[in-house]
Amino acid sequence: MKEKEIDDIITIIRKIYGEGFIPLHAPLFVGNEKKYINECIDTTFVSSVGKFVDRIEEMMSEYTGAARCVACVNGTSALHVGLMMAGVRDGDLVLTQPVSFIATCNAISYCGASPLFIDVDRDTMGMSPEVLRQWLESNTHRTADGSLVENTTGRRIAACVPMHTFGIPCRIDEITEICTQYNIPLVEDAAESIGSFYKGKHTGTFGDIGCVSFNGNKTITTGGGGMILFRDKELGDRAKHLTTQAKVPHRWEFNHDMIGYNYRMPNINAALGCAQLENLERYVEAKRKVTARYADFFSRQSDIEFMTELPESRANYWFNTILLPGREERDEFLERTNDNGVMTRPLWTLMHRLPMFRDCLRSDLSNSEYLAERAVNIPSGVILDLK
Ligand SMILES: Cc1ncc(COP(=O)(O)O)c(C=O)c1O
Repeated sequence: MKEKEIDDIITIIRKIYGEGFIPLHAPLFVGNEKKYINECIDTTFVSSVGKFVDRIEEMMSEYTGAARCVACVNGTSALHVGLMMAGVRDGDLVLTQPVSFIATCNAISYCGASPLFIDVDRDTMGMSPEVLRQWLESNTHRTADGSLVENTTGRRIAACVPMHTFGIPCRIDEITEICTQYNIPLVEDAAESIGSFYKGKHTGTFGDIGCVSFNGNKTITTGGGGMILFRDKELGDRAKHLTTQAKVPHRWEFNHDMIGYNYRMPNINAALGCAQLENLERYVEAKRKVTARYADFFSRQSDIEFMTELPESRANYWFNTILLPGREERDEFLERTNDNGVMTRPLWTLMHRLPMFRDCLRSDLSNSEYLAERAVNIPSGVILDLK
């Protein structure tokens, strides 16, 4: 790749984000953040009790359309509990994609299950419904008790966890249809896609369960935090119980009716999140203006592909992504941009390449391999006053 070509990209990034070091995505606090956090400090309710936890759960229900939302300490714990509520148990297999952050596979592993990798579509970078259907048709059967099992191992297929990569919705309606047909619980990893909709429905609400992350690098943040979205209120209430040490409500007695988890989001984090949520739509609109600027620029670069949403979706464009012609060009690009104070990064190492998941079952993964060689994220933070 010619240095001039990379420098032209650096110039367009600097036109948007200005001089100095440019991070991939910095949080932005322009609303009621300080007011709400001060309220926590003034009232001393900074920890496991306080009104902001209820409020952020209600705000998320209203925004996403989920019947019940349960706030957690992070997106990973949200996924862990989401998978447990879907019925994932020791020895099970969970369908997911190799293009994801490690947390997806870690959460599956916490349940004692193993990931089973299904390839992604090149255009969405999310799970391919076509590959999923073909894989299920050729590699599974039903046992006498009605369980769907993998042919060679006899292990149960317990859930399907597609991920909306970098906030671009995958073909989630088709995946939902397949999961319904095979009776596989769908747990959407919507960690990166708060504010992303597919056919008018918020990501994470297509199946029974979805999970969102509010980590500091996400579109909006609670510092650290996550949310489980439930279609069924009662299932959500049970998850809440599990995330709060399974404590039986009582004014002074401490009784617990099962092994629970200390996964509740602290009030001070929820306070930050409530203020952030108030500005979510504004942030997503602002991010989409940055994306439009990039898309216009890259439409004139013949050898670079800029990743965009499917026509029927509204992506939050958490991280904007380009595809370079090959690995060599990718590495030259990463080197020169990072040397020049512009933060860029490649795709995660594919999950089946990591030592813990090397032996996991998988479909053909050529689209994932194609993307891993070429994809790079470029700065994508919220700019409210884009000129
Ligand atoms: C795809 C994906 N899943 C899960 C997580 C886990 O979220 P957290 O970092 O809040 O635990 C993240 C992000 O961090 C993510 O990108």
